[in-house]
Amino acid sequence: MSKIKTAWFCSSCGAKAAKWIGCCPSCGEWNTYQEEVIQRSDRYDLPSKQKQSAAVPVAIQQIENAGNARIVTGSLELDRVLGGGLVAGSLILVGGEPGIGKSTLMLQIALHCKGLRVLYISGEESAEQIKMRADRIGIINENCYILNETSLENVLTHLDSFSPQIVVVDSIQTLNTSVIDSSAGSISQIRECASILQQWCKTANVPLFLIGHITKDGSIAGPKLLEHTVDAVLYFEGDRNYGYRILRSMKNRFGSTNELGIFEMQHNGLREVHNPSEILISHRDEPISGVAITAVMEGMRPLLIEIQALVGTAAYGTPQRSATGFDVRRMNMLLAVLEKRCGFRINTKDVFLNVAGGLRVDDPVADLAVVCAILSSSVDIPLGQKECFAGEIGLSGEIRPVNRIETRIAEAEKLGFDRIFVAKHGIKNLATRFNIEIIPVVKVEEVAKKLFK
Ligand code: TYD
Ligand code: MG
Repeated sequence: MSKIKTAWFCSSCGAKAAKWIGCCPSCGEWNTYQEEVIQRSDRYDLPSKQKQSAAVPVAIQQIENAGNARIVTGSLELDRVLGGGLVAGSLILVGGEPGIGKSTLMLQIALHCKGLRVLYISGEESAEQIKMRADRIGIINENCYILNETSLENVLTHLDSFSPQIVVVDSIQTLNTSVIDSSAGSISQIRECASILQQWCKTANVPLFLIGHITKDGSIAGPKLLEHTVDAVLYFEGDRNYGYRILRSMKNRFGSTNELGIFEMQHNGLREVHNPSEILISHRDEPISGVAITAVMEGMRPLLIEIQALVGTAAYGTPQRSATGFDVRRMNMLLAVLEKRCGFRINTKDVFLNVAGGLRVDDPVADLAVVCAILSSSVDIPLGQKECFAGEIGLSGEIRPVNRIETRIAEAEKLGFDRIFVAKHGIKNLATRFNIEIIPVVKVEEVAKKLFK
């Protein structure tokens, strides 16, 4: 028997070291190094490796353009996130916390891809359990096959003989190869399995989805390690208290990383949400104070969201300031602008801010809506239910133009809003005519006067 080789790996970022280290020099985490066996001397030829031949240089002009050869999965949201469909031969990592719905999403996609041979390899659930889930989702696809397997060598044999057109592996943490002695789910196993699967998908030119679990504190090795190996990294995330799930692209070699897909978890699987603004705005019969709507952009997509504010007299000496889904420092800056420029006495008031629907807003366009919600709550006068706001606020209280203003106005118009407040300088050259009243504003004081005169 040849000598067993071991190395130390950081379970947080995957950095490798020859000996144990207390603090990882790469990611700065403490006590994350674990020893792993990396012996490779007894390796035998894997079925798909035997086929590989040495590559030869090819002139770039002679390479056929495969740009249009995207496979449409039938899920508009997933296709959008992938940049217009699946690229043949791509390896896609779908990461997310346990229980968020990764298996449900992938099975649903597998069932959606009618006319294509789909192989769903699961090491987590039995075939019966997957069938129960498929019944729950309620889509029938005769070309969807399930394989219960955890050994990578067996998986490769099946992949070669079955020749599927789309493959899903649930999950990378359950796969193991006999080439490496450490247990399934360890760092070296995950790396080796992913790189062998990557070689398979490039050779066979078949897209492959890899599911990977990640926990909040990153204690389970997984997706973070693989980000360099794969072509695209999608994160499936959401607040379990809300039914909404967001599919976000963190890396995409074949498309933009700004795109996002929105789903809603229901009793019969995930529903695609094509018009998210409708669910993010609460519909009330009576107008209430402290609520303002803004039009943010998530990638190329406009979203109308609701900002809620509550302003009250501080019970203690120091007023409380807290914000959920919005940067609290930015809120403090806006409060200072209100105090100085509009003469509102809010330095003795508690201010609470909330973005409805559990979303986080980083787009500065929300500034104007935040200020209007705070003012509305402070004077206890509701804003019109058909009004929305799109503008960034500068330190002198000026309202600055934002990008893609036409897209934002169009979305507000589509959702039946009557008026939109925007920066005057941003709408000089509007190409389209809108059926919504566009109110150009220059200063915060002016907006306050128009709203609460
Ligand atoms: P699952 O896909 O198993 O999560 P993951 O693979 O990310 O660990 O999803 C688990 C949750 O989804 C589970 O709590 C139940 C819920 N669920 C529904 O609400 N409706 C459904 O139709 C299905 C299939 C699951
Ligand atoms: Mg699962």
